[in-house]
Amino acid sequence: MDYAEYLRRLPKVELHCHVEGTLRPQTVADLAVKHDIALPTTDVDRIYDYETIYEFLEIFRLVNSTVIERDDFARIAYESLEDGAQLGNLKYREMFFNPTLHTTRGVAMSTIIDGLIDGCRSAEQDLGVRCRLIADVYRQDSPAMALQMTKEVIANRRDEVIGLGMDAAEAPDPPERFFESFRTAGEAGLHLTSHAAEDGPPKNISTCLDLLGCERIDHGYHILEDDAVVERCREDGIHFTCCPTSTAIVYGWPDLTTHPINEMMKAGLLVHLNSDDPTMFRTDIGKEYVDFIGQNEYPPETAKELVRNGIDASWLDASEKAGLHRVFDDEFTALDKELAQ
Ligand code: ADE
Ligand code: ZN
Repeated sequence: MDYAEYLRRLPKVELHCHVEGTLRPQTVADLAVKHDIALPTTDVDRIYDYETIYEFLEIFRLVNSTVIERDDFARIAYESLEDGAQLGNLKYREMFFNPTLHTTRGVAMSTIIDGLIDGCRSAEQDLGVRCRLIADVYRQDSPAMALQMTKEVIANRRDEVIGLGMDAAEAPDPPERFFESFRTAGEAGLHLTSHAAEDGPPKNISTCLDLLGCERIDHGYHILEDDAVVERCREDGIHFTCCPTSTAIVYGWPDLTTHPINEMMKAGLLVHLNSDDPTMFRTDIGKEYVDFIGQNEYPPETAKELVRNGIDASWLDASEKAGLHRVFDDEFTALDKELAQ
């Protein structure tokens, strides 16, 4: 077994993956036919070409306009988990969805949530991969719309829906705008996270932690511009859900050996790797480890440490985390032996 195969086969946890960014091109084409929706090209693979977060978000909206019925949501969740399991030995995911991307098209919140859960349950049964859901505030929505979405998620709550997050373009819309949504979600017992310092200043991380009550940070690269925020996050053991490929493409760190994730690790921050929007960025959770660990020539110990960080950063309870650590440690031992042969 070569090192790339070892990295692909390491068991993994993923906490930063948007279901709407995991649609297979063929599925987009099938759903477009099913619902008689015209796409700009019939060569769907070419749809996933863009250079900025703004272009990306437009295409994100376009391909998801084909997802309408409960069965469609079930299909995209199932296929997304199947890709994770098959391409990267994914065992557990906390997966984002953007409710308002769908509700603004007239899809009911219950259709979205029930459909996604149908897909997650089938994937767990068939493939042994578990998944929980995080509803994301879309930053370009108004605070009132985000609050209404949050209340609707709470009203349609299922056990599988465990958190509130926040995404879309960070630079124009700072996190404090959405204080009410986070307060409401926190009071309802949802876990909290947010994309921050992906395309904004390090103070957005402090705002997310202190004002919004976030427990972990999605991305976080611009933290390196403020030593005090770095020190605080190191001391508080804040976890960062980093995404090498997606940010290499839309934020201009094409060389993974100089990607800020490396400096974050050197600074003693807790990071792990995620695929963000895998089909849209032509990646998968296995490839993220192969490329980032491989190109930086990190040893197996580092790869395993990042995977373990993912378990620790998850919102599983303590006994579930301990169980996952035991299962992963057994698989690590077997893989280490194969690598050494
Ligand atoms: N929504 C989906 N993927 C995203 C990303 N990488 N950044 C911000 N919003 C997103
Ligand atoms: Zn993201």
